[in-house]
Order: sequence, then C-alpha cells, then structure tokens
Amino acid sequence: MIGVLVSGTGTNLQALLDAELPVTAIAANRSTAPALRRAGEIPAAAFELADYESRAARDIAMAAWLQAHDVKLVVLAGYMHVLTPAFLDRFPDAVVNVHPSLLPRFPGGHPVEDQLAAGVTESGATVHLVDEDVDSGPILAQERVPVLPGDTPESLHERIKAVEHRLLPKVVSELCAR
Ligand code: GRF
Repeated sequence: MIGVLVSGTGTNLQALLDAELPVTAIAANRSTAPALRRAGEIPAAAFELADYESRAARDIAMAAWLQAHDVKLVVLAGYMHVLTPAFLDRFPDAVVNVHPSLLPRFPGGHPVEDQLAAGVTESGATVHLVDEDVDSGPILAQERVPVLPGDTPESLHERIKAVEHRLLPKVVSELCAR
C-alpha cells in the first residue's frame, strides 16, 4: 500500500525496505535513477516528462499506475520534481516528503549547500505532508543535527541522512497504522 517516488540514490527508499514496510510500487521521474535498482521484486517504473504532453499528463499516468498497484500512501524519497494538483488530488493528505533541513527554513533544491552558506550551526531532517508548494505542508516530525566545523556539503548531508533513515520509516509506519 506504499508507493515510493525516487530520483536519486535511494538510500531513504532502502531504509523503508529495510524496515519491512509494505512498499508495493516504486516510481521515478527518470529511468536512470540508481534508486530503481533497489526495487528487487517490487514493481518499478520510470515516468519521464519527455514521454508526455505535459507535467500534469505525466503525473496523472504515474498516479494511475500507483493506484493500480494498490498504493494508498505516497512517500517522496529524494523525488526532485514538484507534483501537480493532478497528482495530489488523487492522494489527499497521503503524500509525505523528507527534506534535509529544519523546515520551513531552507526549502528548495540545494538545502545543504544553502545552510552551509548561511553559516548555521544547526541543521536537521524534516518529514512533512506535501501540498502544492515546494517543501511546504504540515510538519509530521523533525530532528536536529549539528553542523560541525569543517563540514562539507557531503559530510553534513551524510549526517542528516543518517537521521532521515530512522525518522522516515518511523513516521511512515505510524501513518500506515492510522
Ligand atoms: C535526502 O536527503 C532527502 O531528504 C532529499 O533528497 C535526499 C535523497 O537521498 N529530499 P536518497 O536518494 O534517499 O539517498
């Protein structure tokens, strides 16, 4: 009953799979996403924008495919496209995202770099419900992560991801039980 959307390496997808949560479908916005290789026996598919007339048409096709695989809860695990209302309307209050900052601070596509550039001493991981804006929507869980002297984007992101890999499965598990 969980559908996971991915674009990148898929370590958060792996955390959901390791937690033995009921992932029934995995979708990506690009066929080359390394995360797709983690799917194993789970149905997986890529929905590339170039194959559709519009972003809404792509999102409708992806939503229909997820629903055909019994998906009731959608988890964005490093999914880098904004979802259109055409998608969100099909999963009301049932789309969750994980983001490597203490939202509402540092939304967007480069949050780790942005936090280092701003000189913050504290970062974190946020799990939130998705609405039509970027990295907005009600916060479900948040955990702080220290920024250490000499941190690079890579070292800070790894520290945040270690927290994400614990926080995301916990929240998803709680949502499945509601
Ligand atoms: C994570 O840091 C997540 O918060 C952000 O993108 C990254 C995805 O990493 N939205 P991965 O693909 O799960 O390894």
